[in-house]
Amino acid sequence: MTNIDIEVRVNGVPQRHSVPPRLTLADFLRVDCGLTGTHLGCEHGVCGACSVMLDGEAVRACLVFAVQADGAEITTIEGIASKDGTLSTVQAAFRDNHGLQCGFCTPGFVMTATALLKDNPRPSDDEIREGISGNLCRCTGYQGIIAAVRAAAEADDQSH
Ligand code: FES
Ligand code: FES
Repeated sequence: MTNIDIEVRVNGVPQRHSVPPRLTLADFLRVDCGLTGTHLGCEHGVCGACSVMLDGEAVRACLVFAVQADGAEITTIEGIASKDGTLSTVQAAFRDNHGLQCGFCTPGFVMTATALLKDNPRPSDDEIREGISGNLCRCTGYQGIIAAVRAAAEADDQSH
């Protein structure tokens, strides 16, 4: 099949690539862009490890074709911290609240939590549970993750 030219902005950087129509956004980011912070677990939409933001919405990059992202703004975990390396509020809250152990699921959780708090800056615990329900973690038992999202919401609240 013929490749298709796409133009995207990834973490603010314009990119032009020629991609096969069936290349997933996850493989595009990891292989073509070298951004391996987007993890692949199940590769069929169940685990959330591949979550990225597409025009500000959290999506599963294993379920999106790269060609569908043509013209879009994509944010990956590599674009979440400040340029000087300062962690985002969500990242710092995960670190401070034991929101990770092995870290495999963490990029996906950070992207999902960042999108959740953008849409709902003061979520209840039930809304946090609902918001992260599409992401799987095999290590933490989730309590630290819920505490991290709550702490990030409170930290953002104080900074406003
Ligand atoms: S790798 Fe995409 S949802 Fe699991
Ligand atoms: S920290 Fe290991 S899978 Fe979540």
